[in-house]
Amino acid sequence: MAPGLRQHHLLGISELTREEIELIFHRAEAYLPYCRSAQHRLPDLRGKTVVLAFFEPSTRTRVSFELAARRLSADVVSFQAAASSLAKGESLFDTVQTLEAMGIDALVIRHRASGVPWLLRRFLACSIINAGDGQHEHPTQALLDGFTLWKYFGRLQGLRVCIVGDVLHSRVARSNIALLRLSGAEVAVCGPATLLPQNAEQVWGVRVFWNLREAVKWADVLNVLRLQRERMESGLVASSEEYHRFFGITEQVVTWNPAVRILHPGPVNYGVELVPEVALGANSHIRQQVPHGVAIRMAVLSLLLGGG
Ligand code: CP
Repeated sequence: MAPGLRQHHLLGISELTREEIELIFHRAEAYLPYCRSAQHRLPDLRGKTVVLAFFEPSTRTRVSFELAARRLSADVVSFQAAASSLAKGESLFDTVQTLEAMGIDALVIRHRASGVPWLLRRFLACSIINAGDGQHEHPTQALLDGFTLWKYFGRLQGLRVCIVGDVLHSRVARSNIALLRLSGAEVAVCGPATLLPQNAEQVWGVRVFWNLREAVKWADVLNVLRLQRERMESGLVASSEEYHRFFGITEQVVTWNPAVRILHPGPVNYGVELVPEVALGANSHIRQQVPHGVAIRMAVLSLLLGGG
């Protein structure tokens, strides 16, 4: 059992307590000065081996986990799914058991199928960290989003956060809603009806806005999501241009609430859900989210693997 966390896996926000989330934030804050430079490598995970197994594309999550592990002196192996024996018909189960048999301490996994990390937990003894499973959970993204707000506002309690866009297909939305509600924030969603879950108020305990102007006026924070066309059935939005007209975050939209803060998990599709002027503007925290992602992943790895 890792000190401070009840489990030695991080599968979903639903398995954390509010106190554990705050513990991760405090550990990430302590690591922030060390997350940008290899000159200040910390010894916390010396002797540990972390395997990154990404079965879906990733830039931020994969690289930040790799940097996080290296900044803490762990050995890191990046498993290349396309160049592996999966191409010869080996199963996912045999693949991860083979990796574990080589002596690893943590498996960071992203997979297109929801629930895969929970399935693997039944068979593997090493720590499993969910780096995104299908449409289900992306816990380290929610942690870094929450950490970014916690650093700026000094709290999450009472904040009004509206998640704008393709909520239906988004694991980022599910994990963010769970973390924010657990931390005492008020959460809303806003988007076209085809991209919001049915009965979101009852099922997820969130407020629903159909009108972007009302959502922006209500919110302290907009967490803006891209259209996840890779998970979308055709016909859910008429066109990117029409989506942008009604739900795109532009400079004009920010004038409706000049204090509103903007988050985006990335990657951004400019001109669809967000324009570059807002992404790079004074209301945006998108650039801070990236180093915060390294610090949060350092914190998660060290708390799960007993370092620090
Ligand atoms: N936010 C996020 O998960 O980005 P990547 O797909 O680039 O990892």
